[in-house]
Amino acid sequence: MFKKMLLGAAMVGAALIGLQPAARAAESVEVLHWWTSGGEAAGLAVLKKTLGDQGVEWKDAPVAGGGGSGAMTTLKARMTAGNPPSASQMLGFAIQDWADAGALADLTPIATANHWDTAIPKAIQKFATFDGKWIAAPVNVHSTNWIWVSKAAMDKIGGPAPTTYDELIALMDKAKAAGIIPLAQGGQAWQEATLFDSIVLTTGGPGLYQKALIDLDPAALASPEMHTAFTRLAKIASYADKNFPGRDWNLATAMVIKGDALLQVMGDWAKGEFINAKKVPGTDFLCFRFPGTQGTVTFNADQFVFFKHGSSPLDAGSTKMATDIESPAFQSAFNVIKGSAPARTDVSDAAFDACGKKGMADLKEAVAKGTLLGSSAQGYGVPPAIQNAMADVITKEFEGQITADQAFAEFPKAIAAAK
Ligand code: BGC
Repeated sequence: MFKKMLLGAAMVGAALIGLQPAARAAESVEVLHWWTSGGEAAGLAVLKKTLGDQGVEWKDAPVAGGGGSGAMTTLKARMTAGNPPSASQMLGFAIQDWADAGALADLTPIATANHWDTAIPKAIQKFATFDGKWIAAPVNVHSTNWIWVSKAAMDKIGGPAPTTYDELIALMDKAKAAGIIPLAQGGQAWQEATLFDSIVLTTGGPGLYQKALIDLDPAALASPEMHTAFTRLAKIASYADKNFPGRDWNLATAMVIKGDALLQVMGDWAKGEFINAKKVPGTDFLCFRFPGTQGTVTFNADQFVFFKHGSSPLDAGSTKMATDIESPAFQSAFNVIKGSAPARTDVSDAAFDACGKKGMADLKEAVAKGTLLGSSAQGYGVPPAIQNAMADVITKEFEGQITADQAFAEFPKAIAAAK
């Protein structure tokens, strides 16, 4: 159904493209993305400048919202109206859906010339290629199983750094007793789903995570460990302040930056906010893997896809953008600011701060051990319809609309209905 809709949209798009010949100058790119926070804008500025230096004009098409569901809704509307942008930020299974619909330009000649196949981890290539062709340019590897901790709050309550779920709870209890908000949480379904990824991982390890949140194995979904994960979600929700509903993720990060809250559970785009606020890891803030998940990396790689415009090959601006994104120099400059690791594994970590170096080392270890797992909350575990169905149940529990027992029972049903 989803694919049919996309295919229809792409065909309408292709049919209407001929009606707008003057819309796209050769040396410009119109880029749809959801990088609207301070840290994200700083990262995007690196890309804009790289292209601007080569005379490629940047036409900005931002749509806020982590995970990109808002951006994807806008994209579908634009495709249906026959008005595709040059390129769009995109994640995981959505890339495969648009490739399947025949809407994406072939980047293989650029990829071959620049050795993307040897530089980019296979777990990412799986999503960046379709039918043996490269159809997306991975710009980074974010990972989602992190906690971002205020150093001032930690000093006040006296640590220690938590390495297990129980230690995390003990630490949040200490913060509460000291009058510090234990958990800086944003109230949007994708943020709570991102938290839940880590809870499942710490509760049942990479085995349960893979079986329940990626393979959707009914026995794993009905397991006692998943019940524990939902119970823990309710417990962790009790540490958020009462103003969390609707809060944007970067405003939650700001609570940690100011020391009003102890910690945030969030992908390493949160680090972009600390860096943008001129905060230093180890001095102002601390980065730890979500307690109990060291050794596994749940990833979310931002990629850019380029849309076919009639039968013409990729235009000059888009060709420059796809090429630049994968250059080692750009990958370093961009990811130092964005908070992510480079998508290329042959980029030096010299320019990265302590958290960045840790992220890169963890990624390397996870690739070697086979514990680099797609984030289900971020479109790398399951297709978008199932991702959204999961997030709906998780957020209802987090907001207290349903109990942990009810969420545990509803989760497999919501997944089945979305399949
Ligand atoms: C993207 C990140 C972005 C975050 C919040 C995620 O889906 O992968 O690049 O910073 O959303 O907007």
